[in-house]
Amino acid sequence: MKITIIGSGYVGLVTGACLAELGNHVFCLDVDQAKIDILNGGGVPIYEPGLKEMITRNMEAGRIQFSTDVAASVEHGEIQFIAVGTPPDEDGSADLKYVLAAAKNIAKHMTSFKVVIDKSTVPVGTAQRVSDAIRAELDVRGLQDLNYSVISNPEFLKEGAAVEDFMRPDRIVVGTEANESGLYAKELIRKLYAPFNRHHERTYYMDVKSAELTKYAANAMLATRISFMNELANLADIVGADIEAVRQGIGSDSRIGYGFLYAGTGYGGSCFPKDVQALTKTAMEYQLDLKILRAVEDVNNLQKSILVGKILQHFGEDLSGRTFALWGLAFKPNTDDMREAPSRVIIRELVQRGASIVAHDPVASEEAKHALSIDFADAPELLNRVTMVEKPMLAIPDADALIIVTEWKAFRSPDFDLLKQQLKTPIIFDGRNLFEPSVLSEHGFIYQGIGRHN
Ligand code: UDX
Repeated sequence: MKITIIGSGYVGLVTGACLAELGNHVFCLDVDQAKIDILNGGGVPIYEPGLKEMITRNMEAGRIQFSTDVAASVEHGEIQFIAVGTPPDEDGSADLKYVLAAAKNIAKHMTSFKVVIDKSTVPVGTAQRVSDAIRAELDVRGLQDLNYSVISNPEFLKEGAAVEDFMRPDRIVVGTEANESGLYAKELIRKLYAPFNRHHERTYYMDVKSAELTKYAANAMLATRISFMNELANLADIVGADIEAVRQGIGSDSRIGYGFLYAGTGYGGSCFPKDVQALTKTAMEYQLDLKILRAVEDVNNLQKSILVGKILQHFGEDLSGRTFALWGLAFKPNTDDMREAPSRVIIRELVQRGASIVAHDPVASEEAKHALSIDFADAPELLNRVTMVEKPMLAIPDADALIIVTEWKAFRSPDFDLLKQQLKTPIIFDGRNLFEPSVLSEHGFIYQGIGRHN
């Protein structure tokens, strides 16, 4: 099938590459010429395991192309995926200007029936706005009879596992309109996703608004689990319980399950923070106060500073002259994404109290430099106290303590004897509960996890 993907960002590239891999002919559009040049030159502007190889393979096979040519992109595919960004605007609502601009562009150039798919995470009611935007533009062109159908098909891709998630989906959610165009569009999508439904049906067909809400509900539920466990972990710390034992104890209940119950320094990334806020805002627009979700966000904001609290308790409020080794900058492993990363909050709060940071991340250093330059825009001189090093152990010599913020696999089995020897004091503040407290005690460390009982 011939498919157009509007927006060659994270979601767009993964979707485009995977659909090309399945034998479709994919046209990826972006307004950013520099990005398109990188892609055409064989590069990939984001880090995602397996993506570069997949894009290269499909470029060589002539199944994927990258361009800024809007007219050609509209001409190419009967199916037009909208996968542009929906950044939060000032009040936390999803900003739809790029989505609506994409819709308008389709309508400006289309000469035949199009299925327009909302892939970006968009608030309930957006498909209707996309539809209205297309209709308005077609009216301007005097093409009242030209038809189209807007579908909601949200993505459920985890960064770092996006290719795998796309190729082996738990489920595919498709929301279609209950009219003739909608039925036609549904059949087209059924064909497009047929390779994923070979052994059993994984696609859930529903109305458009339910599909839009499903995406937010999934992320809000997952974020809620995390904030809930983080609060319990903080209680466990106070009463001397072990959150890991509690996780296993409750996870064994099949209604609860083990996954997504890991306490830590809070969730980050491009989805949970943004989606929790946007859903709260959507409800507010209808005078409904989603109290649980507001609390989920509040708890998460506090949780990002939880390690700082533990550090201050140990070293006192004034950290002048102290140096901390910090492992892990990205908001989670296997990505260089620094959006809403807890490391940003931790670094800022420590540096503001006089500390220096020597940080290591396997892939996110460059992104981190960029993110920190924004965070420290009001006091750029403080950034001199943040250094990045290329290997985890290079951060250690003479550090007052080691802080772990992201659970990269490479941090899981350090040489504890060397670590102890090189740290000024053998203290580890572990924001991702990588180690067993008893093992670390045996090695002679003072070890503080999140809700872990020594
Ligand atoms: C998430 C959803 O999982 C995905 O389905 C959706 O499409 C986009 O948002 P992503 O943001 O890539 O994906 O990362 P995910 O692996 O879900 O982790 C999100 C955050 O939660 C990370 O900061 C992670 O460290 C944190 N987390 C996750 C916890 O703190 N505890 C957990 O138990 C799980």
